[in-house]
Amino acid sequence: MILIIDFGSQFNQLIGRRVREHKVYCQIAGPDISLEQIKEMNPEGIILSGGPSSIYEKNSPKADIKILKLKIPILGICYGMQFMVHALGGRVAGTGRREYGFAELAVKEPDGLFKGIEKQTTQCWMSHGDSVEVLPKGFKATASTENTEFAAIANPAKNYYGVQFHPEVEHTPKGKIMLKNFLFNICKCKPSWTMQSFAQDAVDKIKNQVGDNQVILGLSGGVDSSVAAMLIYKAIGRKLTCIFVDNGLLRQDEAKQLKIRLKQHLDINIRFVNASRDFLKALDKVTDPEKKRKIIGRVFMDVFEAEAKKIKDVQFLAQGTLYPDIIESVSAFGGPTAVIKSHHNVGGLPKKMKLKLVEPLKYLFKDEVRLLGKELGLDEDLVWRQPFPGPGLAIRILGEVNSQRLKILRQADAVLLEEIREAGYYRKLWQSFAVLLPLKSVGVMGDQRTYENIISIRAVTSKDAMTADWAKLPHKLLGNISNRIINEVKGVNRVVYDISSKPPATIEWE
Ligand code: XMP
Repeated sequence: MILIIDFGSQFNQLIGRRVREHKVYCQIAGPDISLEQIKEMNPEGIILSGGPSSIYEKNSPKADIKILKLKIPILGICYGMQFMVHALGGRVAGTGRREYGFAELAVKEPDGLFKGIEKQTTQCWMSHGDSVEVLPKGFKATASTENTEFAAIANPAKNYYGVQFHPEVEHTPKGKIMLKNFLFNICKCKPSWTMQSFAQDAVDKIKNQVGDNQVILGLSGGVDSSVAAMLIYKAIGRKLTCIFVDNGLLRQDEAKQLKIRLKQHLDINIRFVNASRDFLKALDKVTDPEKKRKIIGRVFMDVFEAEAKKIKDVQFLAQGTLYPDIIESVSAFGGPTAVIKSHHNVGGLPKKMKLKLVEPLKYLFKDEVRLLGKELGLDEDLVWRQPFPGPGLAIRILGEVNSQRLKILRQADAVLLEEIREAGYYRKLWQSFAVLLPLKSVGVMGDQRTYENIISIRAVTSKDAMTADWAKLPHKLLGNISNRIINEVKGVNRVVYDISSKPPATIEWE
């Protein structure tokens, strides 16, 4: 078992996921975990995560430095490495040389973390202001970049390793090998944790939490809520009632199709509620993205509570919340992660909510949920559905949301998805969708001047939505999408392609 001490980095949960990808069980704890608790867990290794603080800041998070006396292998990542260096008597400083994004990593020896990495240089992903300036006794530099002399350090006698870059993100292509070396060569872990064991564990936990009570679940038709429904159904059977809320912010024909598909594939009690009017009324003239999310969250919960009242003895509300929803909405584990967006199923929850939450997927990432879905026998179509945000098209219409603008976006989005599917790109992309901008531009159609809307195409590749790259779609496909949208969707005279990655952009525009 590996213990991850969370210093609050945006990427910290990815570390957990990477560990689990190697079939090693891990737990994440805040920096305030006590030495006694750590001893009780008896971890085979400890990973100290990155974090946004500087080690010299007064309130920067600190773990108990006695962990350095436990004789357990340690890997410090970014701030985690700086914490270890500082605690062992080395020096960390703000050198004024901030390093952010890709860097070329020059590896000194193909040993320790770098065993099996044959090339002497490899790409890594950096995100830091402070750097290590003086190493503690017993440490040596094992890799460097142009700006950072101590990009990786090691004290092999003590099994202490540190990296200034982030091996957990996709943008460090050899990061998986480095973590594998830490888990199996350094910590001597065994690969025995699987999705099957996770599913069994989750079913047991749900049974314990819920007992004999009734549960309602917001089914959206996406993979997350469908997998959550299957797990909960396995645990408590007909005591689960699913509620599908049509918020009027869904894609073209989606509500109709989902109704048919959900009934076909999930042998579960489902109620369908059409609340489109309530949502549109509440969103009238609202343009602020955070306000939109909060309003949608509130109306959603109102509809739920009203529906819940119709079912006797409901105590629990289940949701398919995933880990990225949590870390990007609230600070994880009370840590110092910054708020990026209030995700509808988390930040939008009204405080007055009277139902208790069941969130069996809240420590999983999307691709893990897909694996779990397969494990539970969920239909392929549902397993592979591209993610769709809870607030729906409202956060893809920049500015005011009304039925006229919804109609334009729906039509453009339907064309885009049809072309993407036909070209065989649907499953290759994390998400592909249209965004309606709050701008108009001049065009010319059949000798006439036009002054109409702009649609942006967004298509990204990603493994987990924590980082994403804009998709390098063939020009021909982009051309087809653009031509068809301009020709077929009344009110649009220009289509642009969004070529921003996450970070620094996000996947959705709001
Ligand atoms: P961003 O835009 O933050 O999105 O890069 C990351 C992933 O989350 C989805 N998303 C949401 N999902 N409720 C959801 O259930 C929300 O409020 C929400 N906002 C964004 C987004 O589609 C992407 O997959």
